[in-house]
Amino acid sequence: SKAGLILGIESSCDETAAAVVRAGRDPLSNVVASQIALHANYGGVVPELASREHLRNIVPVVRAAMAEAGLKYADLDAIAVTHGPGLAGALLVGILYAKALAFGSGKPLIAVNHLEGHIHAVLMEARHRGETPIPLPLLALVVSGGHTHLYLARQGSAADAWIYRNVGRTVDDAAGEAYDKVAKLLGLGYPGGPWIDALAPHGNPLAVPFHFNQIKGPPLRDGRPAPNKKAPPQQEGPRFDFSFSGIKSAVLRYVQASGMREAAEHRQRTLAAMANPKTADALALCDPQTLDLIASFQHAVVGILIRQTLAAAEHLGARGIVVSGGVAANRELRHRFQHEAVQRGLPIAFPSLALATDNAAMIAAAAWPKLLAHDFAPEDMGATPQLKL
Ligand code: KG4
Ligand code: ZN
Repeated sequence: SKAGLILGIESSCDETAAAVVRAGRDPLSNVVASQIALHANYGGVVPELASREHLRNIVPVVRAAMAEAGLKYADLDAIAVTHGPGLAGALLVGILYAKALAFGSGKPLIAVNHLEGHIHAVLMEARHRGETPIPLPLLALVVSGGHTHLYLARQGSAADAWIYRNVGRTVDDAAGEAYDKVAKLLGLGYPGGPWIDALAPHGNPLAVPFHFNQIKGPPLRDGRPAPNKKAPPQQEGPRFDFSFSGIKSAVLRYVQASGMREAAEHRQRTLAAMANPKTADALALCDPQTLDLIASFQHAVVGILIRQTLAAAEHLGARGIVVSGGVAANRELRHRFQHEAVQRGLPIAFPSLALATDNAAMIAAAAWPKLLAHDFAPEDMGATPQLKL
């Protein structure tokens, strides 16, 4: 396994993806078949449809990744697959196909946690560019449609293995989920994050004051939500949890109180009737008050993410920050986070836009240290929908 050629397979949610990465550093191919258009009609991911679509896509997607890399299965050193967290039926499609490929080609199978994959997307790209790695211990913010987690990562006993400690999570909605719900409320398409990202610069972010203490939800302590009582933390030490349902409800109340519903419904119908609506189309359908609301919502969410992450970094002595997951594509988040981290002397890294959302290059990259450590999946490996990191 000198070359470290790993085929990664990802099918945990609504993307069927396959990629070949060399030595956790060089992507040789990265193929993603997105189901966004399919689920957009329902305003969210429909699990049964997702599984069926993965079944349809898995073979051509894996073949395309191998062809793009110019490799035969015999050339590979390992096959890696996401085994959780995610939708059970969706995960199973990738797992069973990866198992069959590994068995058929006599290659070892490696199980990868989707959340660790998101973190490795950033590490892989930094390595590929030849950058100095973010020093350990580092704080990783994984922020997507299904997750908002803070992990402190430090060196494990094996050379390339890290130990993760969850130091924060959302007590209700994920940040991406809040984006998607607010976008839906305002008649914008699914997924909502990219729409809000594109429209927010056209509004006044201070127009609607979503102050922390105005947000309904868990009680705030020192400006942050109280620890999650439903799921007590496994580890000792301070928690840096998030809450986004309060701001979502505040947006809903604002929309109702300001009589914005009808315009939102009209916007929704008009955009849905367009073949491929662009930012300019949505912009033309938004009045200044709606744009102000969008800008203010994003300003508040980004502020919560940055403030809580920096508080945790400071408190826990992290020496750098890695931000990843779909919401890491957000431009305001990237600009403000970069600025604030640099001000505190903390190195910070983001994924490229292509690797922020779900992909399989991140799975192949995360498998590289496991290949070095001969950390292979057991034969009876199954899907673990609630897998923790
Ligand atoms: O990581 P991902 O592809 O899938 C999950 O594991 O959830 O993340 C998708 C989420 C969606 O909620 C989407 O609205 C959000 O990431 N998202 C964004 C942006 N691009 C995607 N949120 C804010 N700004 C963006 N530019
Ligand atoms: Zn994801």
